[in-house]
Amino acid sequence: MTKRKGIILAGGSGTRLWPITMGVSKQLLPLYDKPMIYYPLSVLMLGGIREIAIITTPEDQTQFQRLMGDGSQWGLSFTWIVQPAPDGLAQAYLLARDFLNGAPSAMVLGDNIFFGHGLPETLAAADAQPMGGTVFGYRVADPERYGVVDFAPDGTVRSIQEKPEKPPSNYAVTGLYYLDGRAPDLAETVRPSARGELEIVDLLEKYRSEGSLRVERMGRGYAWLDTGTHGSLLDAGNFVRTLTDRQGLQVGSPDEIAWRSGFITREALLKRADTFRKNDYGRYLLGIASE
Ligand code: G1P
Repeated sequence: MTKRKGIILAGGSGTRLWPITMGVSKQLLPLYDKPMIYYPLSVLMLGGIREIAIITTPEDQTQFQRLMGDGSQWGLSFTWIVQPAPDGLAQAYLLARDFLNGAPSAMVLGDNIFFGHGLPETLAAADAQPMGGTVFGYRVADPERYGVVDFAPDGTVRSIQEKPEKPPSNYAVTGLYYLDGRAPDLAETVRPSARGELEIVDLLEKYRSEGSLRVERMGRGYAWLDTGTHGSLLDAGNFVRTLTDRQGLQVGSPDEIAWRSGFITREALLKRADTFRKNDYGRYLLGIASE
């Protein structure tokens, strides 16, 4: 099997967070001590993915590049792609077709924050399925804000509905999609929805209708956090701060994950620590280098 490649979709105009996001991309906003995009990037890295396409708006691309470069500091390789207009999540697969070159993919939305013990194992299980698709269902109190899973009584998936007025369950589909190498071809057959977008749920329906969509439930031991409103953005930042301060461990550090996953040498980690030597993050990296 060709190795799975990653996509981070960090486009969009972030209108719900205006005026903040009038001047800066949502996915560059701070989530406590790190830029938001570090967290979904960390998820792909925990999934063992090292070749990653980052999709941004044309205006924001240079800022993301300034922050993240070519990925080599983390033993990764980044490909930069622009999404000229926010025409839907499924469009990412069309934009990333050449990058994917037939490989299966893991796409994560640039504003989705995941935290939980056992995440690497969960991702490894999804990665081990070369055909079909895997998405992750997470119980939320307000499913109408998301894609929602409609389960039949026997537990099979009847449909996934985008922001339904009457949610068929409390299970939201998180913004992490493991799809096989056919995703760009299948996305090609998705027609724009009433709101004019290529909807991810319509792409997932292609897999579901052929019986190859798996919905893995992320249990209550996981946190899947939202950053869509000012309040939830602040809450997510406080969540990260609480964990970081209590444990003395970083949440969502690509530097730490790169080091512990063997993507980079000790020398490369020390170089990063030196970049941040004047703050706690640099001292933390220095600390883990000498564990
Ligand atoms: C998108 C998807 C939705 C999914 C959500 C997860 O919605 O369309 O199905 O549940 O991401 O974050 P958006 O946040 O773009 O409105």
